[in-house]
Amino acid sequence: MGFMSVLSFAHKLVSERLQPGNSAIDATAGTGQDTLFLAGICGPRGHVYAFDIQARALALTRQRLDQAKQDRLAGVTLVQRSHAEMEDALPQQLHGMIGAVMFNLGYLPAEGADSALITLTESTLHALQSALRVLRSKGIVTVVLYPGHPGGDGEARAVENWAASLSSAEGQAVIYRQIQKPAAPYLIAIEKR
Ligand SMILES: C[S@@+](CC[C@H](N)C(=O)[O-])C[C@H]1O[C@@H](n2cnc3c(N)ncnc32)[C@H](O)[C@@H]1O
Repeated sequence: MGFMSVLSFAHKLVSERLQPGNSAIDATAGTGQDTLFLAGICGPRGHVYAFDIQARALALTRQRLDQAKQDRLAGVTLVQRSHAEMEDALPQQLHGMIGAVMFNLGYLPAEGADSALITLTESTLHALQSALRVLRSKGIVTVVLYPGHPGGDGEARAVENWAASLSSAEGQAVIYRQIQKPAAPYLIAIEKR
């Protein structure tokens, strides 16, 4: 049968913590898979903020949302800014109230996309620190890492070191990884204390 994929495991961890009526953040909207997933859980009483630096990614995300059953989804605000600016972009009243922040690092997996437009270690680490600050207690951050992609290895190691250095007063960090395949994508998740 095999173990769950990294993406499915991220969804499982989020769905066990995020509640209808919560607000959530997709830090890397891409084609909108995680945005749609978060909007489905938060429901009509909740809200999702989806960040991406590429207009193309946000257009794909909007298209995916438009094709879904709107009445069951949270409202979604698409933000064409770096996730490193999430604290600035998020309404003040939601700081400390966010139920989940999902990151899926790397480049936009769409035909014709610019694979040079990847997430970068410095802004990723900045965004992760912001994510922990905007979360509510027992909220979750998930990060899918791609050590096999060009530039992804250093970023993955930096995120892993950052997560390992968090104190238990800040939260609990776990890793989900196929250890025979060091280049395969893997997941780090942090539950805020
Ligand atoms: C692997 S894709 C995300 C996949 C997405 N979860 C999906 O369902 O398709 C990574 C995305 O991060 C975006 N990105 C890169 N740097 C970013 C940044 N600083 N802030 C926000 N998004 C960024 C890229 O444009 C790309 O669309």
